[in-house]
Amino acid sequence: MLTIGVDIGGTKVAAGVVDDNGEIVEHTLRPTAADRPDVVAETVADVVRELSRDRAIEAVGVGAAGFVDETRSVIRFAPNLAWREEPLQKKISGLVGLPVVVENDANAMAWGETRFGAGRGQSHVVCLTLGTGIGGGIVIDGALYRGRWGMGAELGHMQVLPGGRLCGCGNIGCFEQYASGQALVKDAREIAEAEPERARILLGLAGGKIEGEEVTEAARQGDEASLAAFHSLADWLGQGMADLAAVLDPGCFIVGGGVSRAADLFIDRARQAFAERLTGRGHRPLAEIRLAELGASAGVVGAADLARQR
Ligand code: BGC
Ligand code: NA
Ligand code: ZN
Repeated sequence: MLTIGVDIGGTKVAAGVVDDNGEIVEHTLRPTAADRPDVVAETVADVVRELSRDRAIEAVGVGAAGFVDETRSVIRFAPNLAWREEPLQKKISGLVGLPVVVENDANAMAWGETRFGAGRGQSHVVCLTLGTGIGGGIVIDGALYRGRWGMGAELGHMQVLPGGRLCGCGNIGCFEQYASGQALVKDAREIAEAEPERARILLGLAGGKIEGEEVTEAARQGDEASLAAFHSLADWLGQGMADLAAVLDPGCFIVGGGVSRAADLFIDRARQAFAERLTGRGHRPLAEIRLAELGASAGVVGAADLARQR
């Protein structure tokens, strides 16, 4: 059976026709503006029409970066995007005439990685995707956990620091303000401003506008400020996983998202922070901390598989 998985990102829509084995048999990409809810549904309908032209498609799964309701239809809220009470499922199914389910993007990725990627064979998995924000996905006893209202696993919005940074969700001190790509950049910028002598390489590379790429490259060249930003991210991440293990006791964590492409700069330190802060350490097994394997296609594959199971 073939289904289509769609991953709506901040700037583009990625979609693929996926078979029962999680293989993408055809793939397409379109630019879109996730801050223009009115055009997103059109773009998704467009890619679905293109991909279903010469194939029988059973259903469509759509991953989106927001709080999706329990009927998997409406994006009720998105901390980092413009969606508010957006009836995306209705709009898309109306345009394409196929069954459609809308999923939280990180739930879709977690499911893709658990079924076909780094979590294969695992029954208890917690997935963290580090990008603009932090996405969370939880698999318990082999099933994706959505909570009572569909909004479980918003792991980026655990409030970890009283009096901390303002989050896109309106709260203060959320996890995603300390261990996401955006957090990495904020940390590096703050240090570069306060102590420019520690950020000489970074400031040289960035020429005024510090973004994630520059922080990564500068860290690789030994820039002190950039390394400090990665260390801070690693420590917060390890701490966050220790707290999640206190609640969920997973067999493995999967770390993905754009920031994980620079995993060599933080993952060992995060593993160490996790081991040092886990409650009951020494008297329990340590969950493995693995890197995501499916890269950018995890969301497409996961959303397609969730549509197949609907
Ligand atoms: C949102 C989540 C989303 C995550 C990753 C968070 O800010 O609240 O819904 O999964 O970012 O995109
Ligand atoms: Na989630
Ligand atoms: Zn928040």
